[in-house]
Amino acid sequence: MTAVGIDAIEIWTGKLKLDLPETFAPAKGEEPEKYTKGLGLEASSFPDVYEDIVTMGANAAKRLMDRRGLTPDDVGRIDVATESAFDNSKPVSTYIAGCLEKVFDGDFHHANKGERKFACVAGTQSIDDAYNWIKAGRNRGRSALVVATDTALYARGDPGEATQGAGAVAMLISEDPDVVELSTEQGYGSADETDFLKPNQQFPSVDGKRSVQVYLARMREALEDYESVAGDTHPDDFAYIPFHTPFPGMVRKAGLLGFRHMIRDTGIEDDLAAEIGRQPREGEFDSREAYEEAIREYMDALKRTETYRDWYASAIDPTLTISRQVGNWYTGSVHLARTSALKNAAETGQKLTGERLLVGSYGSGAQAEIHAETVREGWRDEIGALNLDEQLARRYDLDFGEYEKIHDAHNHDKETEVEEFTQPSGEFVFTGWGRMNERKYEYVE
Ligand code: CAA
Repeated sequence: MTAVGIDAIEIWTGKLKLDLPETFAPAKGEEPEKYTKGLGLEASSFPDVYEDIVTMGANAAKRLMDRRGLTPDDVGRIDVATESAFDNSKPVSTYIAGCLEKVFDGDFHHANKGERKFACVAGTQSIDDAYNWIKAGRNRGRSALVVATDTALYARGDPGEATQGAGAVAMLISEDPDVVELSTEQGYGSADETDFLKPNQQFPSVDGKRSVQVYLARMREALEDYESVAGDTHPDDFAYIPFHTPFPGMVRKAGLLGFRHMIRDTGIEDDLAAEIGRQPREGEFDSREAYEEAIREYMDALKRTETYRDWYASAIDPTLTISRQVGNWYTGSVHLARTSALKNAAETGQKLTGERLLVGSYGSGAQAEIHAETVREGWRDEIGALNLDEQLARRYDLDFGEYEKIHDAHNHDKETEVEEFTQPSGEFVFTGWGRMNERKYEYVE
């Protein structure tokens, strides 16, 4: 069977940075530790005035095509995943293709383009669409370009304001891929939920505390559904477990639940029994409440064990390094988590070829998806070619007043005159609106 998966990855961060413990927390009268320890975040990325989901996506895609020596003829579809779209009809992928046609010879007229919407899980769904298109033999030897791009802004004063972010992840999906092969097996946890939504509005309506519970419930369902086709999972099976990361504290909760689930009825549970007892089984309790209380106590004890802490430090924590510096990128977020893990492996000289990842995506509204990936031989070169560290280091560090201005500049309901904070160079920029209210872009040398 032909291997299909992620062949190349490029990342483009918004060019501004808001320091959460140093700048945001004092302005909000909060302790910096709420961010660094509680949410697990150091900074958020923001787009400068000339950046948006199109420029960030097109800039990531251009880097990817340049680096891999691709022309439009090599790409048979362009799928954009976003929950920050500004048009209910014309997809963002047409804008991105239009940008790329300004700098590459040839055009994308032959390419099928679309836009995927299911909150943050849409990036993974776009990869799925590409995978299915290739597996069905409809790709005529071409690859698919998947771009997950978002400006994740919340209304000022919303608790979600602490978790904002902006950036794009471009991925090439191909046969015989260099980075990871995707498993055929998948699991879903999907239900009609109102945890986070944007009913024709720019900033989300969020039930923050509930959204955390819905994330965990759907992720658990997806894991059980995955196991129903792929067999039981075990912590030793996976080098890393990248999750959708709205903020690292969310993944801390998901990791603990996942570990408890995976070790049930295994030697790990037996080995831990002397230290913290065995996991409570529902049948042993008179009421659901008593069972849930016992589970909470077990989880509290579990997270303090060396066994759990060692596993978390090796399989989960390295997936969070990028997210800590950029915040939530919605559709791009789980793909940053994968990249973060691979980057950690490259930097620590880990041998990863043939190792497996378990990837947990999530979109509000709500749907979780879980699948496995097998790391391919070319992963190290691909990850080594990223310039993310330079991009992060050169972000302009906003003070609080500047943050408020840039938030207003990106607010569709406000008219503002804000000067750009950085100078564009070698990238696509937003230049204003055309006669049909379309957005216009140029490439700046
Ligand atoms: N020192 C250490 N820790 C501290 C602290 C301090 N001084 N102050 C607070 N904390 C901890 C809290 O204990 C809490 O941790 P636990 O949950 O582990 O107890 C954490 O910091 C956050 O503090 P609060 O719960 O008080 O924060 P909040 O209520 O202001 O906001 C939130 C939290 C509701 C998640 C909010 O950030 C939010 O609404 N975010 C947007 C929604 C979201 O991201 N939901 C995640 C699931 S939905 C999803 O994944 C889709 C998506 O991308 C949006």
